[in-house]
Amino acid sequence: MRHLIAGNWKMNGLKSSLGEVTRLKELLAANTANADVLICPPFTLISDLAKEANGTTIMCGAQDCHTAVSGAHTGDVSAEMLKEAGAMFIIVGHSERRADHGETTALVKQKAEAAQDAALTPIICVGETREERELGNAAAVVSAQLSGSLPEDTNYVVAYEPVWAIGTGLVPSLDDIREIHALVREKTTPDTRLLYGGSVKPANAAEILAIENVNGALVGGASLKADDFYGIIQAV
Ligand code: 13P
Repeated sequence: MRHLIAGNWKMNGLKSSLGEVTRLKELLAANTANADVLICPPFTLISDLAKEANGTTIMCGAQDCHTAVSGAHTGDVSAEMLKEAGAMFIIVGHSERRADHGETTALVKQKAEAAQDAALTPIICVGETREERELGNAAAVVSAQLSGSLPEDTNYVVAYEPVWAIGTGLVPSLDDIREIHALVREKTTPDTRLLYGGSVKPANAAEILAIENVNGALVGGASLKADDFYGIIQAV
């Protein structure tokens, strides 16, 4: 399976940040990537980033969507709108949205289905908190999140992102990643791409991406700089 290296810019980036995409284009033109490459910028940059990436192998995605196609939902954006803007994937259920916006597993499933209805691929995020891991509940938590949030249609990507590894520089042991990814594989299909996310950097990417059932990475901080992101792509 071809790896997917996805960047999640979170709430970072102004038009000036598109220079990083220009730089990434140059790097990828010089050395063909052995992976699919995706960048999910904030809503405001999707259209510009999609234009900047047009004609290259870089794909554009979004970080969230509403469950409805349209209607009276002030401040929200639908999957169809994101598709029109140039998105091909939508991250749903990121732990920051679960924490900041109280998103439930059931809502995450509806968002994943909304993305699919717009012919986009949802990237469904799951992962345990530090406390849940310390209590020995990581597998049970991830299992319950998967049961509640995976749609019938198997056109999706799953990202395992332990909450305590996000933006902290902490990474689970390779065995712990292997164990959770094996569990996710059992609950999905042999063809589902399973990403690991949480403090992936150029320095640790090769060993993480070589783990069985790890088919790519969802990268936060290190996706903001083209050279770092490219270092992770090259690690494939
Ligand atoms: P970091 O790579 O900054 O730890 O973020 C991971 C993440 O949350 C990607 O969605």
